Amino acid sequence: MCGIIGTIGDRNIVPALIGGLRQLEYRGYDSAGVAAITQAHTLARVRTEGKIASLDEKVTAAKLEAPIGIGHTRWATHGAPVERNAHPHFSPDGRFAVVHNGIIENASEIKSMLLKGGVFASDTDTEVIAHLLQLYYTGDVVQAIRDTCRRLRGAWALAILCLDTPDTLYGAASGSPLLAAKGENGVYLASDAIAIREKAVGCRLHKGEICALDRDALRFFDAEGKPVFKELAPVSANENDTDKGAYAHHMLREIMQQPDAVGRTLSPLIEDGRVVIDDGVLSADFVKNGLREIKIVACGSAYHTGMTGAMLFERLSRVSARAEIASEFRYASPLIDEGTLAIFVSQSGETADTLAALRLAKERGAKILSIVNVPGSAIASESDCVIHTKAGREIAVATTKAYSAQLSVFYALAIRLASLKGEIDEETARRLAHELAALPDRIAETIEVSVAPAKALAEQIYARPDMFFIGRQLDFATATEGSLKMKEISYLNSQAYAAGELKHGTISLVEPGTPVIAVATDPAVAAKTQSNVCEVKARGAKSVAVVTRSLAPAFADADVVFTVPDTSPYFAGSLAVLPLQLLSYYTALKRGCDIDQPKNLAKSVTVE
Ligand code: F6R
Repeated sequence: MCGIIGTIGDRNIVPALIGGLRQLEYRGYDSAGVAAITQAHTLARVRTEGKIASLDEKVTAAKLEAPIGIGHTRWATHGAPVERNAHPHFSPDGRFAVVHNGIIENASEIKSMLLKGGVFASDTDTEVIAHLLQLYYTGDVVQAIRDTCRRLRGAWALAILCLDTPDTLYGAASGSPLLAAKGENGVYLASDAIAIREKAVGCRLHKGEICALDRDALRFFDAEGKPVFKELAPVSANENDTDKGAYAHHMLREIMQQPDAVGRTLSPLIEDGRVVIDDGVLSADFVKNGLREIKIVACGSAYHTGMTGAMLFERLSRVSARAEIASEFRYASPLIDEGTLAIFVSQSGETADTLAALRLAKERGAKILSIVNVPGSAIASESDCVIHTKAGREIAVATTKAYSAQLSVFYALAIRLASLKGEIDEETARRLAHELAALPDRIAETIEVSVAPAKALAEQIYARPDMFFIGRQLDFATATEGSLKMKEISYLNSQAYAAGELKHGTISLVEPGTPVIAVATDPAVAAKTQSNVCEVKARGAKSVAVVTRSLAPAFADADVVFTVPDTSPYFAGSLAVLPLQLLSYYTALKRGCDIDQPKNLAKSVTVE
């Protein structure tokens, strides 16, 4: 993970480095640093534990000014998040400064074999890069970078300064995103276009490529160090919408933005009362004659949308479908062939495990469809076809609006697939499309009625050490997401269970007052879930039910009931998740947690 930036400008670039790092904080925020070559020709460095705000204070106190520099915001992989492990790292002779995003898998081997133990100032894998640069440098920086990269295994995006060439910024990438760009006020290297805060043209570095950027020219080299030409195109940041507005947290604002996020995502997918999905994504011929099974691969919340997607594909279109955790998938010898439709779901489009799984599925001949929020991201660009969620920029680490947008894409896909398979008739397809089109309004209504009860319940449960979320089938997927949301932002221990499974062991953990939150929106299984609620209530649990309006009477005995509007049971997860998001938000608020940037996490997980 981590975010990197480098820039050369006409004047002092330190404010541009700090401003860019603030934009990159979503990639990690446990420590940070900058290094710069000053007018006095020294390599200066400022590093800190914690967030960019503390780096900013330290940089101001140090009165650091320079025309060229690099910066880093870190999500620790090797070595604790303390100042000596913060990037940039220097070569022992102080000639090179390096920032790195990725993981060097053979760092310890390099340390012991190549660098003969050496003396290292940090516990990071990155520092070996600085040592190797010194080892291979004979006066040509690009050649030193090429030789260094040849020794590395793993993933990297690097920004490098060399004191001997104070007007040049160097970069290299393999498996981690890196953009080289040129604007009116400077040239840049960055993990994400969002860090470049002016109009610019540029390009991504592909596997093994190296670049050398001067104020007037961007030069590129292949992995052999041979010059290559790369086309520059306008660099567009996804959406520079970084303002919290009237909300205390980005997460709350993003929860409130869900009707728009889902509406915008569905808008190109529903036309004249019917779901329309481009032929390139799902052609009648492939569905009828080629499609054997669907695998949905993703991580975290995106995987939870995949759980829903897989159940809907099987139920509505009778195609065998499975959701797979990306980090497991690639090591499981998955059965994939030309008859596999592999769907990769990702907000960031950069998640390393998902990307690696995509490459594996592609190699084995699957058709690759991705559902991605960030246009131009690695997952989007390596897919055969893409459906973009239009959630806009999501800043809070805990996903809400991107999750809802992803779900809505699965709903549309499931309807279209069922139609193409002939499993539902035209009238049913139109009725479901109609329900789908009504979803944004129902989401708005659900949020409105859920805020006050979520706040009130948070007051009652915020000090409990643990809690459980239960549900069956589609409701289990929603319960799983609700549980993840709770633990990641409130740091409470919460577990999700298929409701029928609780009594096979976990119910022994239920104590008087333990919150058990049951999701029940599907009439086919609601009565069973209701029995499970009775079972935990009989053991003293504080029972909470999240149910649709028509199922509410059956759950009248629960201690707290959240009621969501009626909709097709296929789509009710989109509504039931909303009180759960709000409940985690208000619980975390009450516990004084850092809601937008929870500890130990990062928005974009670019390491495996
Ligand atoms: C949880 C959360 C994570 C992400 C996961 C995948 O709130 O945000 O679990 O869903 O890290 O990230 P993307 O969707 O960017 O691939």
